[in-house]
Amino acid sequence: MDARTFLRELRTEVEHHPGVGHSLLGRMSIDPRARADFRIFSGQHYPLVGTFTRYLELLLLNAPASDEKVWLAKVLVDEYGERSEGADHAAHYRIFMRACGWDDAGMEAIRLHPAVPQFLEEHLRMCSQDEFLLGLGAVGPGHEWAIPAMFHEVLKGLRAAGFGEHEIGYFTLHVEQDKDHGAWLEEALQRLAEGERNQALIRAGCLRSLAARERLWWGIADKINAGRMSARFPGLASATSDEGEATLAEVRRRLTVRVSLGA
Ligand SMILES: [Fe+2]
Ligand SMILES: [Fe+2]
Repeated sequence: MDARTFLRELRTEVEHHPGVGHSLLGRMSIDPRARADFRIFSGQHYPLVGTFTRYLELLLLNAPASDEKVWLAKVLVDEYGERSEGADHAAHYRIFMRACGWDDAGMEAIRLHPAVPQFLEEHLRMCSQDEFLLGLGAVGPGHEWAIPAMFHEVLKGLRAAGFGEHEIGYFTLHVEQDKDHGAWLEEALQRLAEGERNQALIRAGCLRSLAARERLWWGIADKINAGRMSARFPGLASATSDEGEATLAEVRRRLTVRVSLGA
């Protein structure tokens, strides 16, 4: 299959993947989410936002030649805050976190659904230990093509829950910016997606990323339901206990060791 056909088919596959069209996102209009639900959503999603640049940095080290590095470097410049008034994307996301009621200490102490650290580990592994094209498939088509579609749905829910535009800038920025990142990527992939082996690697990375994404949305939906349950029936809190789940601070410590050992 030529690169153009492969990429067109992969785009369609991404658009129809359950990790992108997950019911948690697709039902935002018929099953409205309250601010309290988004507080939980934001806390579980935050670790992903802060780790994305690390995937790209690791992948940059793995890139076989400068040609392949150009796309990654261009995206990284945006991620470091070039087009978001100097605030890197994690800092930009914290505006939303604060609007959801988190303070800095609270963010570090959030107990994370196991699907969250699993998502991070899977991506760190793909970008540092697997073949370059597999990692590129994960952060490229698996992220840049998926995010505008997913965030489009999230934004419907955020606006319905009463968030102001100044509070949800991270999401509106990404709907636009990731269209650019996806287009730059497509240029790079036109050259890289030649041959059966390369195409299989790119697609495998993309699908592994989207599968982890689907598990993540299920995990967040589970957390939201648990939050609703314990708000409604405080006495039944034990049924939805998060005891034993790692906090962001703990996960970060664990990941730092892993990455430096794995490198
Ligand atoms: Fe970003
Ligand atoms: Fe992006």
